[in-house]
Amino acid sequence: MLVYLNGQYLPLEEARVPVEDRGFLFADGLYEVIRVYNGRIFALEPHLRRLADGLRALRIGFTGLDELGPIAERLLDENGLRSGDATIYIQVTRGAAPRAHAFPSPDVPPTVYVAARPFTPYPAAYYENGVKAITVPDTRWTRCDIKTVALIANVLANQQAKEAGAFEALFVRDGVVIEGSHSNLFAVFGDTLVTYPASNYILAGITRSIVLDIAAELGIPVRQGPILADQLFAAGELFLSGTTTEVMPVVQVDGRPIADGRPGPVTQRIQRAFRERI
Ligand code: PDD
Repeated sequence: MLVYLNGQYLPLEEARVPVEDRGFLFADGLYEVIRVYNGRIFALEPHLRRLADGLRALRIGFTGLDELGPIAERLLDENGLRSGDATIYIQVTRGAAPRAHAFPSPDVPPTVYVAARPFTPYPAAYYENGVKAITVPDTRWTRCDIKTVALIANVLANQQAKEAGAFEALFVRDGVVIEGSHSNLFAVFGDTLVTYPASNYILAGITRSIVLDIAAELGIPVRQGPILADQLFAAGELFLSGTTTEVMPVVQVDGRPIADGRPGPVTQRIQRAFRERI
């Protein structure tokens, strides 16, 4: 497997980052996960725009954004990934420097890592029958809109879900179900699709915006607002969206069924439309 690191293409085993990299010391960096369907990169531009927003927010002076698409394409070629499913992983950190909280002065070059690897999609049954979720307190910081590699709260939440036999952990903040550990959340109340507004409390998913687009196209009413934890079981449907998750029904939360415990018609319409887009 060939990866890209700081201007070089090299075997994964030979890719090395200094121990003083600020990604290692401070989680001072950003990442993107992008999906590849049948050898073709899906929704590259919005992912790169989000990365650009993150770089601006963290004041990381990386100027090579335009090269990332061609690098990803070359990695797909070099790794024989021009058919089937894959993911592109991009990580940019502030670079390596002796440990001090404030930015290195003078600036150091950012560390840039890109990998393309085969992706095994989740079982079809997850999409057809739905998955389970648990709720957990949202212990994250309040800039969840920045896709930093500081994912420990997400890691712990996702592990808790896994140990509970669930697919996803849903973060609850002040009585509101915000999003998943690695996906956004949608609920259907009556005929209306509800999802938490794009704000500092969620990562505004690329898949989330595609779902909103699809809903507009299909004439499904949308309200971007809170999903109250104590009204979760009044929802007719619940589903997750994400790059690897796609559009996945949630049929049980904390051991209790959502509606009749089966994926609902709105979710299924959106799933179909999403499949058509890819
Ligand atoms: N996670 N919310 C969180 C907290 C996420 O980590 C993700 C994505 C999403 C969905 O965003 P998108 O539709 O752009 O993938 C929402 C990626 C896939 C990950 O960490 O692996």
